[in-house]
Order: sequence, then C-alpha cells, then structure tokens
Amino acid sequence: MKRVAVYPGSFDPFTLGHLDVIERAAQMVDELVVGVLVNSAKKPLFSIEERVKMLEIAVKDIGNVRVQQFNGLSVEFASENHAEFIVRGLRAITDFEFELQMAQTNRVLNPAIDTIFLTTSLQYAYLSSTIVKEVASYGGDISKLVTPAVRDAVMEKYRSTRE
Ligand code: PNS
Repeated sequence: MKRVAVYPGSFDPFTLGHLDVIERAAQMVDELVVGVLVNSAKKPLFSIEERVKMLEIAVKDIGNVRVQQFNGLSVEFASENHAEFIVRGLRAITDFEFELQMAQTNRVLNPAIDTIFLTTSLQYAYLSSTIVKEVASYGGDISKLVTPAVRDAVMEKYRSTRE
C-alpha cells in the first residue's frame, strides 16, 4: 500500500528549515503532500497562490512531493489525501507544548492518523517565518534563511510596502 503523509503549515513564507523537513520526510514515504493553510488566523504576508507557487518551485525536483492549498482541519486534509501521517518539525522545547496539544487533538479527531515529528536540523533550529519577516522588514539579509526565489519575493514585498 502506498504510504502518504501530509505536511501542513502556513508557510508564510517557507524557510530552509521547512525545506529540510520536506526533503527528509519525502524519503520516509511514497508521497508527501505539503498542505498550505488558506484560512490562517494570522494575516499572511503572502497570498495563498504566492505561498503555493514558491513551494512548488522549491520542490519541483523532488519526485514524490506535491503542494496543495487547504482550508479547515489538517486531519481532514490528511484523510482527503489518504494520508496516514501528519508531519511536523520540532525546533526546540518551546515548540513542544503547542505541537503536542495539536497532535493529541488531531488524534482525538481522527485516531487513524498519527503525527510524526522530525527534529529540525541544528542549523535551522532558530529559524521561523516570523524571523525571516522580521529581518527582512528592517532590510536585513535573509539569504541564509530562505531560497533565492523566496528572498527576492520577500524583499520585493517589503520594498513595495515601504513605497
Ligand atoms: O506553520 P504553522 O502556522 O505552525 O502551521 C500550523 C498548522 C497549519 C499546522 C495548524 O494551525 C493547523 O493544523 N491548522 C488547521 C486547523 C487544525 O487542524 N487545527 C488543529 C486542531 S487543534
């Protein structure tokens, strides 16, 4: 049977830390579906189309990864994609409480779907989309934090909001 996992997130924008999780998770399953949440509580910097497009460009050479937008619950997104697993990255102990709560809730909602946590590679342990936006909003160099395409898109956003 084909093993499918979903990797849900806001990805506003995706970082090299997310990409690291995607590359590693893709090796563990037959298909990995990256789910980009449309109705995020946070007001995103990038539209859903922009977030999906940037991810699609980054994963185009990884054969078993697909990117899809979704609305609603991650467990429902997982079921729709016939996924057995939800993948999440854990950077530090500060992530743990929220991630545990989400994983437990998701398991109550659908006991057939398990959450798999991947510990983020050490060089990305500090990294988040929020940090990327914070640095970029002050004109800082984010080229060690995101792909070149994302760097250009983020810098362009802040350039246009400053003008
Ligand atoms: O990248 P993020 O913002 O840390 O991702 C959070 C995300 C999208 C995984 C989480 O907010 C989510 O799953 N949202 C969809 C609604 C849902 O299923 N919530 C979990 C039940 S508590």
